[in-house]
Amino acid sequence: MCPGRHQQTRKTATMAKILITSALPYVNGVKHLGNLIGSLLPADVHARFRRQIGDDVLFICATDEHGTPAELGALKANQDVQTFCDAQHAIQADIYRRLGLSFDHFGRTSSPQNRTLTQHFYRRLDEAGLIEERELRQIWSPVDQRFLPDRYVLGTCPYCGDESARGDQCDHCGTLLDPPELIAPRSALSGDRALEIRTSRHLFLRQSRLVDKLSTWIENRSGWPPFVVSTAKSWLTADLRDRCITRDLAWGVPVPREGFDAKVFYVWFDAPIGYIAAAQQWAAVDAVRDWRRWWWQADDVSYIQFLGKDNIPFHTVSFPATLIGSGEPWKTVDVIKGFHWLTYEGGKFSTSRHRGIFTDQALEELPADLWRWWLIANAPESADTDFSIAKFVADVNKDLADIFGNLANRIISFAHRAFDGRIPAGGVPDDAESALANDLGRRIAALRRHHEALEFRAAAAATRAIWDTANAYLQHAAPWASVRSDPDRAAVVTRTGLNLVCICAVVAWSIIPHLSERVLRAFDRCDAIPHWPDGPLAALLDGGAGTEVARLTPLVEKITPERASHLAARFGV
Ligand code: 2FM
Ligand code: ZN
Repeated sequence: MCPGRHQQTRKTATMAKILITSALPYVNGVKHLGNLIGSLLPADVHARFRRQIGDDVLFICATDEHGTPAELGALKANQDVQTFCDAQHAIQADIYRRLGLSFDHFGRTSSPQNRTLTQHFYRRLDEAGLIEERELRQIWSPVDQRFLPDRYVLGTCPYCGDESARGDQCDHCGTLLDPPELIAPRSALSGDRALEIRTSRHLFLRQSRLVDKLSTWIENRSGWPPFVVSTAKSWLTADLRDRCITRDLAWGVPVPREGFDAKVFYVWFDAPIGYIAAAQQWAAVDAVRDWRRWWWQADDVSYIQFLGKDNIPFHTVSFPATLIGSGEPWKTVDVIKGFHWLTYEGGKFSTSRHRGIFTDQALEELPADLWRWWLIANAPESADTDFSIAKFVADVNKDLADIFGNLANRIISFAHRAFDGRIPAGGVPDDAESALANDLGRRIAALRRHHEALEFRAAAAATRAIWDTANAYLQHAAPWASVRSDPDRAAVVTRTGLNLVCICAVVAWSIIPHLSERVLRAFDRCDAIPHWPDGPLAALLDGGAGTEVARLTPLVEKITPERASHLAARFGV
């Protein structure tokens, strides 16, 4: 147990309230690295950074458990849907814990809270005249004796010709589809091709009536990446289509309306409501927690959503339509941070074809922070970005082993050789240290600006530049060269170097928390949240004389050529 010397409890009345949600991963199986960088990981890095600067953060995620992905996943696993969802939720929760994703709550959209809230929104929208019952042409399979919504139908995409399009979406070109649009449709259950069109009554959310309100709402947002704004605006046109929010399925939130007993709400209607429901689940375990503070009349909250580009329409049109259409004072998103795709060795990651590296496999191979670092340093922020094993190995070896790991191990080992494993006293810092403090101050301020602006690649580059600065200082000031001839000077440089390593670990914590915490533990710093270094740096760099520093085993083992070949053989294309 560490002493509370560095414990930070800085909650004050003036701190900002930041609500962060990551797109909710479908429950149907372990996610790949593309899913991780597409929303979960950057959301975590931002949540951690915000906590470091003293903001009051609520970071929420959940498994998205309804709809055809869950039903089909359960069928494939030969389990009932509830059992399947229970098991898959637990598997994903465990992986995210091991990856260091610091959710305040990782909930489930199949929760009672989400059912109640989804039905509440439906009733409010209905009372506001925004729900309409319509007759819909649906695909019916005589062999399966059922309607085939969404992913229950496979076929050829009418837009790009890809033959593995699903009824809800073509993964090849990203177009959202309706099952009857597919060319040469077949049942995903039986393969039945003798499909019929039958009519069925469904509910539509009349989004078209909300175009003006939604357009004004979007105009009043700022800080969205340009491609998110343009995608949103391309949907918000005069011919915005009303959205069908019910399905002929058994698994999901029941529709409380006469004649709809055999139907449930569409997964994309209840999933984003799951953000709020997950906050209710979070609050349910402790009377002090108040979910309303974040979601209801919460004008003092800044709400940031992290999501992949295929999720943009649902978060810029459908979910805001639900919230605004309810006529109630729900919190709507302030900033949407959208991501392009991470590709894999020149092609697509694919869950169905199991192409790419999946998060459970990644953790079997290497520590979480190696993946975290590379993904954040190469986040697909402004364009699709390719993951290759060769580039991953080269970058991680250089940035984490050669630069950061070497920095920490070298100066801590030297302190053990020359100063009995303590931060040495003695000597007075000179111009080299004040130049270092000034340079570092500028660099830390720049890093903070990148984090605040949600610029993840730039934040990683600025973190690396701080490590480079630290290495360059130590290389030049070389305490190992002066320890005999000028022990006071060597003491100053070693003291500065050790404090510098701590600062390097603290500013990197949001991206590589496990490595950072290993370094900080050597200094007996066990702060749950290492506070951002915003004090006078010269004093910070000169402090701590007499503090014991524990020996540090090699912080980052280089990925050897043999290991790299193994990765290529296991995950090669
Ligand atoms: O695309 C997906 O993976 C969806 N499960 C994201 C849902 S985000 C939110 F709206 F729930
Ligand atoms: Zn297509």
